[in-house]
Amino acid sequence: MRLPGWTAAAGLLLSLPSALAALTAPDFTSLDSIKDTAAEVAKDLLSFYKGEDPGWVFAIGILPGPPPDGDYFWWIGGAMWGALLDYRHQTGDTQYDRIITRSLVEQSGENKDFMPANWTATMGNDDQGFWAMTAMLAAETNFPRRPPRPGSTGSPCINNGFDYVNTISNGIYFNLGARLARYTGNDTYAEYAEKTYELLERLKYIDEEGNVHDGAHLPKDCLDVNKLQFSYNAAVMIQGAAYMYDVTNQSQKWKDRLDLLVDRSLAVFFPNGVAYEYACEGVGSCNVDMRSFKGYLHRWVSQATVLAPHLRDRVMAVFEGSARAAVAACDRGDNGQLCGFEWARDGGGAQSPKQTSAVHQMNVLGALTGLMMKEAKVPVTNATGGTSKGDADGGAACPTCGRWRRSPWATGSGRGS
Ligand SMILES: *[C@@H]1O[C@H](CO)[C@@H](O)[C@H](O)[C@H]1NC(C)=O
Ligand SMILES: *[C@@H]1O[C@H](CO)[C@@H](O)[C@H](O)[C@H]1NC(C)=O
Ligand SMILES: *[C@@H]1O[C@H](CO)[C@@H](O)[C@H](O)[C@H]1NC(C)=O
Ligand SMILES: *[C@@H]1O[C@H](CO)[C@@H](O)[C@H](O)[C@H]1NC(C)=O
Repeated sequence: MRLPGWTAAAGLLLSLPSALAALTAPDFTSLDSIKDTAAEVAKDLLSFYKGEDPGWVFAIGILPGPPPDGDYFWWIGGAMWGALLDYRHQTGDTQYDRIITRSLVEQSGENKDFMPANWTATMGNDDQGFWAMTAMLAAETNFPRRPPRPGSTGSPCINNGFDYVNTISNGIYFNLGARLARYTGNDTYAEYAEKTYELLERLKYIDEEGNVHDGAHLPKDCLDVNKLQFSYNAAVMIQGAAYMYDVTNQSQKWKDRLDLLVDRSLAVFFPNGVAYEYACEGVGSCNVDMRSFKGYLHRWVSQATVLAPHLRDRVMAVFEGSARAAVAACDRGDNGQLCGFEWARDGGGAQSPKQTSAVHQMNVLGALTGLMMKEAKVPVTNATGGTSKGDADGGAACPTCGRWRRSPWATGSGRGS
């Protein structure tokens, strides 16, 4: 029987709520199914970036910002393209290549060192470093259209007024050094990386239990260690340590360092088997930057297991449970499937603010992409098919000095740049 028009219309209206169904969980035993879900999350991530649309008022390659003009600082753009490059590499989904290339080229700056003149005044080494890690990833995954050279972190260390020597800047320097050592086969990078790691141990930024603290102030000789632990600090060290383990032909020294960091991070950041931004999540004080860390945690530690397969089963068992909770938190926004941040809470079905953000999408994309790395091949090097022409001097200019920036977390006002 044909329904009268108005009944059909009413029926449509009634069905609207179910049209806004939450993101469908994948079959976690099927790589293809995980890929399909990740594709949805990636598409929703790109809905926050409208840089290709006429009327875009922000620079090409960045998310709306920086505050107060939009939610996101410059570096989050670099981090987002990194998340998409990992996704692309694991899935073969090349539909965003043009946008990624355009963004990396646009933001690489006048000297191809990811210090575009517009941002230098407020930029810390870590901000620049996030873009450099994305360029490194492009090289390691043979991203076709040459983005700027990887590893260009060779800028002076100092931005006036910055006196907080943070772990993330040193961690990125270490991470890139380890990756350049592996990519180029040049031991000089490995030496810089190892010195940086030892400095962080000596200053107790990394302690004997494998905790990775946030930083300290130079006027106090970096002895006033800020004991806050953020997951991106641990993750950047873990990924770098896995590269050093590989570069040193599975040395016991780097295995011990790596295992210590991984054990401690699984305990600190996955208290109930679900990623939890320990320093701020429980009290609801995570700012946008901090709300982006879980994605790096999932991706970088997953990637570490590719080079250190003895960690794979242990890490993946936890990360799969975490990814399940992540997807369960994708139940909001205009289309009903944008993601939340508090996975432990959201996944548990309790109420939580129905906030949406590009960084939440990056996190869930990272969690799903990380699971795909169970079967990933090791990254290419110059000797195994990598085609990026690195610049041997990139990254070498700055000795293992402190990387300076103003205190990001102590003031409660978010990052300074
Ligand atoms: C620099 O700022 C100008 C003016 O705001 C803008 O048009 C341009 O796109 C910016 N360039 C980059 C690389 O961000
Ligand atoms: C990479 O390998 C090619 C060919 O083997 C060689 O000519 C080139 O110098 C290498 N580049 C670097 C940066 O090591
Ligand atoms: C690792 O092994 C390779 C090949 O056997 C060798 O050329 C290289 O020197 C070794 N590196 C280290 C740090 O032991
Ligand atoms: C290795 O890297 C260092 C630092 O960038 C550079 O000075 C040196 O020439 C490189 N060595 C080789 C063999 O390319």
